[in-house]
Amino acid sequence: MDHFADRNGRLFAEDVDLATLADVVGTPFYVYSTATLVRHFTVFRDALAGLASPAGEAPLVAYAVKANPNLSVIATLARLGAGADVVSEGEMRRALAAGVPPERIVFSGVGKTRGEMAAALAAGIYQVNVEGEAELHALSEVATALDTTVAVALRVNPGVDAKTHAKISTGGKENKFGIPLDRVPAAYALAASLPGIDPVGVGAHIGSQLTDLAPLEATFALLGDLVRTIRAGGLPVERVDLGGGLGIPYRAGDPPPPTPADYGALVRRATAGWGVRLLCEPGRMIVGNAGVLVSRVVTIKPGDAATGTRSFVVVDAAMNDLLRPSLYGAWHDIRAVAPTGDRMVATVVGPVCETGDTFAEDRTIDAVAAGDLIALMTAGAYGATMASTYNSRPLVPEVLVDGAAWAIVRPREELAAQLARDRIAPWLDGTENERRST
Ligand code: LLP
Repeated sequence: MDHFADRNGRLFAEDVDLATLADVVGTPFYVYSTATLVRHFTVFRDALAGLASPAGEAPLVAYAVKANPNLSVIATLARLGAGADVVSEGEMRRALAAGVPPERIVFSGVGKTRGEMAAALAAGIYQVNVEGEAELHALSEVATALDTTVAVALRVNPGVDAKTHAKISTGGKENKFGIPLDRVPAAYALAASLPGIDPVGVGAHIGSQLTDLAPLEATFALLGDLVRTIRAGGLPVERVDLGGGLGIPYRAGDPPPPTPADYGALVRRATAGWGVRLLCEPGRMIVGNAGVLVSRVVTIKPGDAATGTRSFVVVDAAMNDLLRPSLYGAWHDIRAVAPTGDRMVATVVGPVCETGDTFAEDRTIDAVAAGDLIALMTAGAYGATMASTYNSRPLVPEVLVDGAAWAIVRPREELAAQLARDRIAPWLDGTENERRST
């Protein structure tokens, strides 16, 4: 469900005409829908309604900032009561700047530096999810030096196959994430023995774009066993972090992935009797369908069936703007912003000098000509955030729509600013005497 719809033959984001927006903002650009963000967050939160902790705390829905770290996106969610799951000091600073209170921030991530730990502790965040015994020792030292105590959940590697793309599976034994299940009780006891560490719970995140709930169900069952084992050892468990991972529909016509309601029903069933505060870290589910990437057709290179050449639609967006198709072979629906009703078969590519810079191969799409606009759908999650300046292309702008209102929430990067970040080494710019001898 999203708020990008055809109105009188033109694609709109809520009440804003994308063609008009393209004229003002220029292409390519990302555009996000507030109504879709609000709806997805609300539906997710409501699916977990009634699952309060023994102390009466509702589950903490900590939005995974990595999916879309734009300040306005985070701020929209923060106003609805969202927390934030962050994996770097940068993400933490964004969450705080967007108005997420520290007591709703969880710090995850497999390689936190001591500097990041100190920043998290100084900000007074809710919880740090620890990924290993060595990290526990480091965090204990940092907390002791700051004369504070930090609430810690241990991230468990449950050894479960998430049945998603290999590059975004995180819960298998072969993956770098979490503490192997059999070592968790001992690690929890270690945490309890270390100064500055207050072990409050366990958690797991097994992967992203999950289209089958069975691996989650298996993981939750293992977490439940763990809670009982740790408690039997005499230590309290007050919180369980269920991670993120719920998949979303990318391709019109594909069987829909499990809904938030299906997920909520699973959580209700699997966690009954745990007596903990639940935490979740959804990213894609909240923002994925809330964004599209709008791009203009630069040129058409017609193919010839007789000689076996393809028809290429060359657009002004590229793999550096939306990496998912190149990196994971991911599918994004492509729609003309002003469809004529005609269809064509084409390979849609960007201008970057790599064959991997391909958004769609031999796909039947709305017929387009040079100068026409297209929208790459479902680009709100892991879109702008994974962009780079490869081929010295400027980072594209982001626009947030709310009803008929819209705002540029990140302007297009100026080429001059991009250039100004580099320096000419002194021995190259004619000021030889400034050369440093090392
Ligand atoms: N929590 C942790 C610890 C995570 O590592 C992730 C995602 C999430 C939560 C949020 O997962 P979600 O609900 O969004 O599935 N770039 C890839 C996805 C990478 C996901 C990384 N971790 C893509 O474009 O498909």
